[in-house]
Order: sequence, then structure tokens, then C-alpha cells
Amino acid sequence: MAMLPFQAAVLCALVQYSRSIDPRFPPYFKFGAGTAAYQVEGGWNADGKGESMWDTHLHEYPGDIKGNATGDVAADSYHLWREDVKIAAKLGLQYYKFSINWPRVLPTGFTNKINPAGVKYYSDLIDALLAEGIEPIVTLYHWELPTTILRLGAWTNPLIVKWFGDFSRVIYSLYADRVKTWVTINEPIVMCDFYYNTGFYPTRLKDPDLAPFLCNRHVMLAHAKAYRIFEQEFRPKHEGRISIANNLLWIEPATPDDEELARLGREHQWGRYCHPIFSKEGGWPLSIEKLMLEVSLKQGYKESRLPPFTEEEKAFVKGTADFFGMNHYTTNMIRSARPGDKPGIWFTTGSPELNAILESPPEATFGATPILPVYPKGIRKQLSWLKQHYGDIDIIITENGYASTGHQLNDFERADFIKNYLEQVLLAIKVDNVRVTGYIVWSLIDSFEWLDGYNTKFGLYEVDYDHPNRTRTPRVSADYYACVIANRSLDV
Ligand code: NOJ
Repeated sequence: MAMLPFQAAVLCALVQYSRSIDPRFPPYFKFGAGTAAYQVEGGWNADGKGESMWDTHLHEYPGDIKGNATGDVAADSYHLWREDVKIAAKLGLQYYKFSINWPRVLPTGFTNKINPAGVKYYSDLIDALLAEGIEPIVTLYHWELPTTILRLGAWTNPLIVKWFGDFSRVIYSLYADRVKTWVTINEPIVMCDFYYNTGFYPTRLKDPDLAPFLCNRHVMLAHAKAYRIFEQEFRPKHEGRISIANNLLWIEPATPDDEELARLGREHQWGRYCHPIFSKEGGWPLSIEKLMLEVSLKQGYKESRLPPFTEEEKAFVKGTADFFGMNHYTTNMIRSARPGDKPGIWFTTGSPELNAILESPPEATFGATPILPVYPKGIRKQLSWLKQHYGDIDIIITENGYASTGHQLNDFERADFIKNYLEQVLLAIKVDNVRVTGYIVWSLIDSFEWLDGYNTKFGLYEVDYDHPNRTRTPRVSADYYACVIANRSLDV
């Protein structure tokens, strides 16, 4: 057992592991934690940065988020990034996942202007991580769309495929010598289905019929563009793996009669974001292509609201991933809607197409966010599903974490969450032979939690948002995670 500070060892002992599976992680397995630019950086207009859609949106509609929160200062990681690196090193992380704020590097959104201060910021961060032996995982896009591109139609404009490709090329040319793992786009389902189905968030466009599906299509093509640019222009010189990070909500049938609905639900919810890239045949899941055509014709459209790919596009997108990036938080049960059910309860898709309702599993417990029921067994089922459908691809769990509220350093619930989810990951590896190679806790430090502002906290470290220095303090879960990493075992 690795030597740990006395207090950490005592705390770890409180989160004892007592199950029967071999609690050791395989040698190739890596542990990490993550953040995203708008959620932690602040410095919204510092040193030549352009505006992102979040900056503009929250300045125009200040009351939109709980407590009138904005990411203007956030955890001030733009200035305090050295602290974050120190924390990551103290935890013993092997990966730190962060994202690039697009208009920090390209203030106009386009390649006509590059901001040297933005370039230096990420360069210094990458160097400092590497100096500590921590591998950076860089997400090109975690929803920090330049406002210029928002005004031009954001992800509904097909030109975004080219613009995202141009942006990716700039970023690779700056950092591909040092960054070896890339995520193109984070959780596209949130910015396509959730933004446009609800009209929440910076696009302020509620158009559930067409916009989510246009966005879905353009995300697939933009991701593939960024992948192909790397493959053709950078891979000859630099090693590197690239994927997309999809948010996979495991969907269980509520009753045995809902089995088929659950299958369709999974394909509709995330098959649309995975199948074009990871399946053998490429393109949309066939069941969804069929369903969307039927529904669209019934609604009086003359063609499917889910725009088809050409054969050439299918081939362009297919296979554009070197691993599977899976964000996983929760599990929902699905059942057919009954008369009187509120339509569109579907968390992200508001799916009138399926006429279905999603509910929490009866055995689930809850953190601070009621839409995130805690149900660890779901992650194992999700991992097995991926293997069954997309084969033996390496999987990195690019996000998994627990939501709490209030000032709480003794977060045994979060430590327990990590233990229970990791146990299911070990079962997936050792019993189901799924190739999970990494696990990234969301998040390293408390951050701006989108619609929840600073109310909901995911951090291993607490950030004092009332303090001008944004002091970072470890929670119990940080000590616990450090023990797991040091021992490479749940037996801490
Ligand atoms: C996933 C998103 O990528 C991240 O930005 C967010 O903070 C977490 N989910 C928690 O809601």
C-alpha cells in the first residue's frame, strides 16, 4: 500500500471497500479529473479574448441563471491555473481534461486574427501539466462558441463544419507537439437537442422540429472534419488519438413490455451521435431513420426532419474515432406515455417522436440535481452496450461525477459515488471484458454549473466563490480519490 498522509489514510479507511471482486485496476488504466473553459476560467475579456456565446448571453440576460451567476470570473483559472495544476499533481492524476475557449485563441471566431495571450495561456498550462507528469486531454469545444458564429446561426449553419475545421487546425498546429489525446466536441446532445428543444441557453431558439437534427448532422460532419484534418495534416508528424465525448444516459425499460421502446430510446438519445462514427455501416441508426421519416410525413413534412447523409458523407464520418469518449452520470427508466402524462418530459430530447416518458429508477438515490439519479449499475450496462454495438474499442470515461450543494467539505457521498461507480467499471473490465482504459472525475474544482450557476457543485476541491482569491480546499472525496490512485485499487 502506498504511503499517504495520516489524515488521508484515515479518511480512506472510512470509505472501505468490502465486495468480492478483485479491487485492483489494470496497469493500463489511467485516472483523471476535468474542467471546461467557461466553467472555470473567468477572464472573459482579458488580454484580447473575444466573446463567446455564454459571455454575450449572460450579459444580455443577466437573470437567466440562478443567483444571476455568470462565468465572468468563475474560479479565475485564467489567473490561478498554477493552483489547478498543483491540485492535479497532489491528487496524483494521470490525466487532466480541460477545454479551449475558442474566442480566447481566435477572438473573431475565424482565423484572420490569433490572440497571442490566449495561445500562451494554454501553452503554459500544457507545459506545466507535462512537467508534473500529467497528460493533458484537450477538448476543442465545450460549448464556448464565438458570438460571431452564434449570430450566423451557430450549429444550424452548415458552414460551421468548415469553421470548426479551421479552428481545429489552428489548435493542432499550436499544441499537437505536446497534446496526445483530443476530444473534438463535448456532449453534442446537450447543445443540439437540449438547447433547441427547450430554448434555454444562449441560442434562445426553441425549434424542436428541425434545429436539433440540423445541429446533430453538422456536429457529426464538423467532428469528422476535425478528425480528418488531424489524420491528414498532423498525424504524419505527431502521434495522437482523437474522439468525441458523448453524454450517454443509460435507458432501462420500466417494464418488460418497454424493451423495444428502451432500444429505440437509446438509439434516439445517443445512437444519433454515436452510430455515424462508431458503427460498421455508418449513417443514422436505421430504426431512427425509419421512425423520423414516418413521424415527419405524418406531420405534413415532405421529407424526414432528420436530414440524410450522402454516401460520401457517411464514409467521411465513419471511423473517425480512436477511442470512445463517454460522459456518464445517470440512468433513467423509459415507458410509453399515458393519457395525462406531461409530454416532453424527456430530459434532453423532449422526444415527441417516441411519445415516451423517462423516470428515475426506483432504487436510485440523488445528489443535488434531481435530473441525475445515482444508479451505479447503469454504467456497467452502458459499457457492455457499447462493446456489443461498436466492438472492442478503447473507452475512456471522459466524465462521471456527483452533484452536491452548500459548503460541504465532508462529502462522503461523493467519495462513495466514486467508489460505487468505479466498482461497476471494474466489473465491466474484469467480468464483461470491456476495454475501459481511463476514468475522469467531473470535476477537479467547483465550477459554473450552467443553468444552476454556482449552486450545484461537482468539485473534488471546493472553491470559495465569496473569496476574491477563489480559495481551493480539498474535500474528503479528493483525499479518497488520491488514495485510490496511489493504490491503483478500490482497496484503500
Ligand atoms: C456534463 C458537462 O460536460 C459539464 O459541463 C457539466 O458541468 C456536467 N455534465 C455536470 O452537469
